[in-house]
Amino acid sequence: MHDQKISSLQVENRRFSPSESFQAQSSITAQTIESLQKLASQDVVAFWEHQANELHWFRKWEKSFEWNYPFMKWFQGGLLNLSYNCLDIHLSTNRANKAAIIWESEPGEIRTITYRQLHKEVCKLAEALLQLGVKKGDVVAIYMGMVPEATMAMLACARIGAIHNVIFGGFSEESLKDRINDSKAVCLITQDVAQRKGFFIQLKETADIAMASCPTIQHSIVYQRSATMYTPMQAGRDHWWHELTANKKGNIAPEQLDAEHPLFILYTSGSTGKPKGIFHTTGGYATQVRYSVQLVFDIRETDVYFCTADVGWITGHSYITYGPLMHGATVLMYEGTPTYPTAGRIWEIIERHNVTILYTAPTAIRSFMSFGERYPLASDLSSLRLLGTVGEPINPEAWMWYYSVIGKNNCPIVDTWWQTETGSIMISPIPSVTTITPGTATAPLPGVIADVVRSDGSSCEINEGGYLVIKHPVPSMARTVFGDDERYKQTYWSEFPPNEHHQGFYFTGDGARKDEFGNIWIMGRVDDVVNVSGHRLGTAEVESALVAHPDVAEAAVIAKPDEVKGNALIAFVTMNKTAQYDPKLMNEELRQWVGKEIGSIAKPDEIRFTEQLPKTRSGKIMRRLLREIVASGTISGDTTTLEDFSALESLRKQEEE
Ligand code: WT7
Repeated sequence: MHDQKISSLQVENRRFSPSESFQAQSSITAQTIESLQKLASQDVVAFWEHQANELHWFRKWEKSFEWNYPFMKWFQGGLLNLSYNCLDIHLSTNRANKAAIIWESEPGEIRTITYRQLHKEVCKLAEALLQLGVKKGDVVAIYMGMVPEATMAMLACARIGAIHNVIFGGFSEESLKDRINDSKAVCLITQDVAQRKGFFIQLKETADIAMASCPTIQHSIVYQRSATMYTPMQAGRDHWWHELTANKKGNIAPEQLDAEHPLFILYTSGSTGKPKGIFHTTGGYATQVRYSVQLVFDIRETDVYFCTADVGWITGHSYITYGPLMHGATVLMYEGTPTYPTAGRIWEIIERHNVTILYTAPTAIRSFMSFGERYPLASDLSSLRLLGTVGEPINPEAWMWYYSVIGKNNCPIVDTWWQTETGSIMISPIPSVTTITPGTATAPLPGVIADVVRSDGSSCEINEGGYLVIKHPVPSMARTVFGDDERYKQTYWSEFPPNEHHQGFYFTGDGARKDEFGNIWIMGRVDDVVNVSGHRLGTAEVESALVAHPDVAEAAVIAKPDEVKGNALIAFVTMNKTAQYDPKLMNEELRQWVGKEIGSIAKPDEIRFTEQLPKTRSGKIMRRLLREIVASGTISGDTTTLEDFSALESLRKQEEE
């Protein structure tokens, strides 16, 4: 861990209390939260049992919690099925014909899928998977765009106890291949093309290249998004979704799964080059995701809930698919870019479908802001009652814009802090209760014991910067890193191992401080993980993609604050001595190279060529120094010139002392 001094100059005094009208419509009062907090402080395990009871169980659990540092188990012996909890439980109620998903395609087509229809489609696909020989415990990779079929694919896996591994549709064939191979997926569900910014994204074509190097894949199921595209299909391996499901009845029984049966693997970036397969199980995840939707989104029968995340990220798992569907909510799903064909698209969608809850990311808000107020002002946004953000700290300016221009000073904003690893929201305001200050995710939800601590584990003073930890395991936490228990232990549980005072703290990787009101202010990552446009990237991942280029000798990637994206990536690159290149052309070539190795989201914003990188005597690249150079503007301007770090020799010496 970098024991750097974490400091912040942010001072924010504005405070916003929930309006009386919002409170009057909510079933959650200050008393509700107080009694939940009381129960949690008396017995946190009993608290979570209480929440788990809200789910449908085929058989109740025998053991509520087991802690064998650093491995946890929740609700062992209990049998449930998450697709049952998202679908079947609604069919005997008047939600059966309620819209589960309203989908708007980028070109403007609208599809409404009721709970009954969704159940049927999920069952048909589940039958098809079984027919192909996919068994309980097998891994199924999903590489799709934002279509309802992506949700169906996840739920179909959950129905038969297959483990889904959703891979973001923007990832390259290399990233796709690595994630399929690491998880040993036996089947890949994809689509011919996805539509984005008016273009067709050739998902099946990319999948074909990846599958050629994926020995474990036996079958692929291809959803036909376009009626006109020609898609090569490999006989015996590739199957059209519509053909495979055509003769299925659509009513297979859900597999009764142990609470600790794996639900999904989702790859995320860490501080080393290799992405981690974050491994989540069924019962605890479902319990806490369900609970958080109720508390944070104050979900109601009449809500139309719109989350702009992609299914390829954890937000798309917990808060597009499982969370809202467990509550029988109507989910608005949009296929394309929210600013396409004009910057007004997202606001038109909200007006057209009477969206009541909007959940998006600060980077998206900043991008909406950059187009000016006239776009949101052109649409009727009066259906909105609650706004949410996730992914990075929201700067107060963007918060105020979201609050006033979008929410018309009438909608609480829930700034939700969580991670792929925590599975569900950990820190957030309760919209009907919490007094909110822009820029802070406020306080942990009842049942979550989070704190800001020093490296020895002691609690920080008010406003003293420290490390954000979670002091007791919670049900929706990742159980391990797929295939790498040691990495799980190292990354999350070894900074604050058990001692005479506690049983070990979960380390989030974030720096934070707590103010005099108990609000937690996230101050960014303390490891080499950066947030670019709400996407989490490991700088080491981008570095290893760069050095994979035949002309590159060494690379160091750092982040630089960026107004819209949150962070921009700056790469310092040393070329092989023998390499002949034109810096301008090589700059573009390397950006394309990284795009191919990882995906467009990882392309560095700037590449700077240098004869050498500043290093410690032991050979460690001094990224801190590079960050300072970029921040102070010591070296700036022409990005294609060679940087000479020899002038930094004195700095290097100081650093070593
Ligand atoms: C990291 C987790 C959880 C879904 C999206 C990102 C940062 C997340 C907030 C917030 C400040 C935030 C943290 C965290 N982060 N939400 N509300 N305020 N920072 O999931 O890709 O797993 O990234 O995102 O640094 O550790 P992820």
